Amino acid sequence: MSLQRLRAAQRFVESQKSFSNFDVLELVDTGSNGVVFKCRPRDRKLQGEWALKVVINYGVDASVIVSVAVQEHSCIASLPPHRNIVEVFGTIGPAAIPQAVFDLCPQLMKESSSLQEAVGILMQYYPQDLEVCLQKHQQDPSLSACEIFGMCLDVLLALRHLQRYRMLHFDVKLNNFLVEEDKTLVLADFGCAQQVAEEGFFFMSMRMSAEGNFSPNAEILFQLCM
Ligand SMILES: Nc1ncnc2c1ncn2[C@@H]1O[C@H](COP(=O)(O)OP(=O)(O)OP(=O)(O)O)[C@@H](O)[C@H]1O
Ligand SMILES: [Mg+2]
Repeated sequence: MSLQRLRAAQRFVESQKSFSNFDVLELVDTGSNGVVFKCRPRDRKLQGEWALKVVINYGVDASVIVSVAVQEHSCIASLPPHRNIVEVFGTIGPAAIPQAVFDLCPQLMKESSSLQEAVGILMQYYPQDLEVCLQKHQQDPSLSACEIFGMCLDVLLALRHLQRYRMLHFDVKLNNFLVEEDKTLVLADFGCAQQVAEEGFFFMSMRMSAEGNFSPNAEILFQLCM
């Protein structure tokens, strides 16, 4: 195991704090790697709502699920906190995943075959993603020019933060940006992300741009400006 992987696994284990004290309210969305639920901490001192992403990986065994979750958590946790990057609180192991999650999404229970194979990432809850936000805006324009300009800047600031720490996201798309009440954008879903060594970053970025992997960034800005 490389030193980087060992550090990631260590961070993941350390992040498994006691998060049993929350209620699962509703299913938010089902993605290709995980199912996201809206939750509320029972402790009244803890403000706001949380999101729980239960990481599943259809048809693979538990070790792969854990490594996907380790990778996702580790990539976010290794970045200094930033206004435009999703805020993650920690992770929970299979034993701490509430039964309510499986009641709300029976398919999850079937796919992950047992509670023993699910891993959860707890983060801040954001009311909508950018894809939904722009769809609503197309039907009933409500975003001001100033808010749209701010969103374009947020996309660029999130990407600049990643670049500064040599993090390649590999899945930049509209529904991986989440929108706060005040229309601030945060980049989420680090399931495919990788931190690249300094000497490899330039080469990797060039290869990605040659393969067209950077086009989603331009497309997001284009969609925002339409
Ligand atoms: N913290 C959050 N707050 C509110 N909604 C969220 C949050 N995280 C994710 N979501 C919603 O759930 C969807 C799926 O989450 P995410 O992208 O992390 O999962 P995924 O399985 O990796 O998805 P995919 O591979 O399809 O992009 C997001 O597009 C977004 O709509
Ligand atoms: Mg996603």
